[in-house]
Amino acid sequence: MTERHDAVDVITAKRDGRALTDDQIDWVIDAYTRGVVAQEQMSALAMAILLRGMTRPEVSRWTAAMTESGQRLELSGLDRPTVDKHSTGGVGDKITLPLVPLVAVFGVAVPQVSGRGLGHTGGTLDKFETIPGWRADLSTAHIMAQLRDVGAVVCAAGASLAPADRKLYALRDVTGTVESIPLIASSIMSKKIAEGTRALVLDVKVGSGAFMKDRNHALELARAMVDIGADAGVTTSALLTDMSTPLGRAVGNANEVAEAVEVLAGGGPDDVVELTVALAREMLAACGITGVDPAEALADGRAMDVWRRMVAAQGGDPMAPEPLAPHTEAVVADRDGVISRMDALGVGIAAWRLGAGRSHQDDRVAASAGVYLHKTLGQHVHKGEIIMTLCTETEARMPRGLLALAEACAGRGAVEISDVGARGPIVLDHVAAVV
Ligand code: URA
Repeated sequence: MTERHDAVDVITAKRDGRALTDDQIDWVIDAYTRGVVAQEQMSALAMAILLRGMTRPEVSRWTAAMTESGQRLELSGLDRPTVDKHSTGGVGDKITLPLVPLVAVFGVAVPQVSGRGLGHTGGTLDKFETIPGWRADLSTAHIMAQLRDVGAVVCAAGASLAPADRKLYALRDVTGTVESIPLIASSIMSKKIAEGTRALVLDVKVGSGAFMKDRNHALELARAMVDIGADAGVTTSALLTDMSTPLGRAVGNANEVAEAVEVLAGGGPDDVVELTVALAREMLAACGITGVDPAEALADGRAMDVWRRMVAAQGGDPMAPEPLAPHTEAVVADRDGVISRMDALGVGIAAWRLGAGRSHQDDRVAASAGVYLHKTLGQHVHKGEIIMTLCTETEARMPRGLLALAEACAGRGAVEISDVGARGPIVLDHVAAVV
C-alpha cells in the first residue's frame, strides 16, 4: 500500500518547529500502530515534540488519533449520565475506592478503567486485587450489565483500548520522552476518552510523591488535559491536589483497602474523606447534579452498600479480613515535638521496597506489604512513641524499607520532628474548561 506521508517529513516538520497538520497526525499515529512508522522514527518524533511542544489543536488531534487507534466503549445505551475520575498517581492514593461507589449512590454510572502501579505510586487494581476473588478483566457485556445494575465498575483496560498509546508509552519510557506535557496529556486522555465517559474529573497531584513535583508544571498538565477533554466533547475539569505527604495513614495495598472501607463506614482519616467528598462534588456537578451532600452518603451507609455490591459483582468477597504481614517493624520518635515533615516520596519508596510496588510490569505485588502511619504531618509526638509501622512479607526487605526512609529528602530523612509543623490544604487549585 502506498503511504500518503513520509515519516521523515513529519519528523523534520516538528524538528523545525512547525505545527503538524491533522492529516499528518492521523497518518503518523495510524502508521505507527500498523508498524509502518518504525520505532526509531517515532522516537525521533517524540523527542521533537518534547523539545518543540504542540499547539492545542495538534494535541487534541493527536489524542483523537490515539483514541481512534482502538475501540471505544459505547456507553450511550445507559439510562443515566456517566462520569469518571483520573488521578495522576500518588502515595496512599486510595481515593478511587470510596469515590466510585459514593458517586454511584446519586444515580450516575461510573466506568473506571484503572491501571496497575509501577515504581513508588500504587495502582488501584493492585489494591482491589488483594480482595479474595476480585477480578479486573471484564468483558464489555459484564461492564455494561454492572453499570446498569450497580452503577459502578472498576476494571482493567483491554488490549483494544488506545493501542497506539500502549506502544508509544512503552517507547517513551526508554527514550527519555515521558516528560513531555503534550504527550502525557494525550496519553492519559486518549484512554479516558476511549472509555466512553461523558464527563471526567482529573485529580492532578503535585509534590514530592507525584509525577509533577512543581505546581506550575502540574497546572500546565491540568490545563492541557482539560482542553483536550473540552475539544473531544467530554465535560472535563481538574483539581490540583497536594502530594507532598501521603494521603491518609495506610500506604500499600490491602491496608489501603481497609482504610477505604473505614471511609465508607463513615470514619477514616480526615484528608481522605475531604478529598473523596471534594472529587465527588466535582463529578456530580459535571453531571448537573448539585444540592446533594456526598458526605451524608458516607455517613449513612449508602456508599458502603454500593461498594459491597460492586465488589461482589466482580467476584470479590467484601467481608474478607485484611491480610496481615508476617514481619513488622516500628519506627519511633527520637524526641518530643511535632511531625514537620512526612515526605510522600520517601514513604512511597519505603512501601515499594517492602514489596508493595513493582519495578517491572510483570512483578507480583505483596498484598500485606506497606507502611502504616500512626502519626501524620502536624501531629504531636513524644519521644519513644511509634510514628509508623513497616510491614513486609519478606524479612530481607525490611532493611531496604528502613534505608529508603533514611535516604529520603537528600539524606535528611522522610520524617522530621521539630517544634512546629502543619498539614496544608489538600485541594490547591481548580481548572475549568475554556471552550
Ligand atoms: N500516565 C499515562 O497514562 N501516560 C503518561 O504519559 C504518563 C502517565
